[in-house]
Amino acid sequence: MKARTIETLFILSCVLIMSLLSGCAASGGTDPAADLQSGGSPESSHILVAYFSATGHTAPIAEYAAEILGADLYEIIAEEPYTEADLAYYTGGRCDQEQDDPSVRPAISGTVENMERYDIILIGHPIWHGQAPRIISTFLESYDFNGKTLVTFCTSASSGLGSSARNLYGLVPESVKWLESRRFPIGAAKEQVYEWLEGIGLTVAVEKGMKIQVTVNDQTRTATLTDNASAAAFYELLLNGPVTVEMHDYGSFEKVGPLGTNIVRSDEDITTAPGDIILYLGNQVTIYYDVNRWDFTLLGRIDGATGENMREFLGKGNPSVTFSLPE
Ligand SMILES: Cc1cc2nc3c(=O)[nH]c(=O)nc-3n(C[C@H](O)[C@H](O)[C@H](O)COP(=O)(O)O)c2cc1C
Repeated sequence: MKARTIETLFILSCVLIMSLLSGCAASGGTDPAADLQSGGSPESSHILVAYFSATGHTAPIAEYAAEILGADLYEIIAEEPYTEADLAYYTGGRCDQEQDDPSVRPAISGTVENMERYDIILIGHPIWHGQAPRIISTFLESYDFNGKTLVTFCTSASSGLGSSARNLYGLVPESVKWLESRRFPIGAAKEQVYEWLEGIGLTVAVEKGMKIQVTVNDQTRTATLTDNASAAAFYELLLNGPVTVEMHDYGSFEKVGPLGTNIVRSDEDITTAPGDIILYLGNQVTIYYDVNRWDFTLLGRIDGATGENMREFLGKGNPSVTFSLPE
């Protein structure tokens, strides 16, 4: 990782939201701030989102978390799949029996490769009789989590988190740092997941006025990021390196192209101005040189932009637009 990036990360680590980062500069190991300093690209993430989802409600929450954090995703699959009859609760069936006996450890099919490379592991599950399914106990006892940071999240029909997270703490070494768990209702939005991750200090907080660079045809301009969750997610993307978007003209008011990934949306009714950098549908970036009005997300604005200088900057054709962090 470039020294510049490490330096930027160091500064950012000190504006991370959670108090768990106290002493962030000095400590290492399980401190997520320090972890972020050594973070890699999405292909070599040091964050893992592992989840068990018997009926598919927890899976999208896990996917949102992985997208937001640029984390790897791992599905915990039971060696003996849960049938509909198994899942019918209060029938005395398999799930009821397993949840009645804290010592049960249903076998998992497959393993996480190279668990040692992950510093932070998020573990998602449904609530079964007020607790995590016993397969989560199997997962926690299958790896050496010594010195790592763990956090659980769950979905349920109506139950709160209760003691479900706390009851897992004893299954791993005491050196594990647990972050605050969250229960989500079925169908929770990506924004809710983002707010939770931000609250526990796993995302970067964008300070007001934070700058990025926009380069087209060897010409570079600075832009000022907006103070919202999407701009923070965009900034996090750039922490992994410059992002180039192949853009084309649309509507005689913007250049637009695919971001190549989804980031959290903060859509609102916006009338654009020249120089606006907009996130459209969560996975496309546009730069405006004229006015448009739509429900989308303002990521930032190119400094000193006018209709005239944006037309010149973006050109008439299909520009390759590179977003990066300042040197
Ligand atoms: C065996 C079993 C027990 C359950 N117990 C509870 C419960 O105690 N409280 C609750 O609100 N929902 C309970 N549910 C509902 C699930 O927590 C809920 O549907 C969850 O979102 C399922 O997640 P999944 O689709 O990822 O498996 C239970 C479901 C099953 C199958």
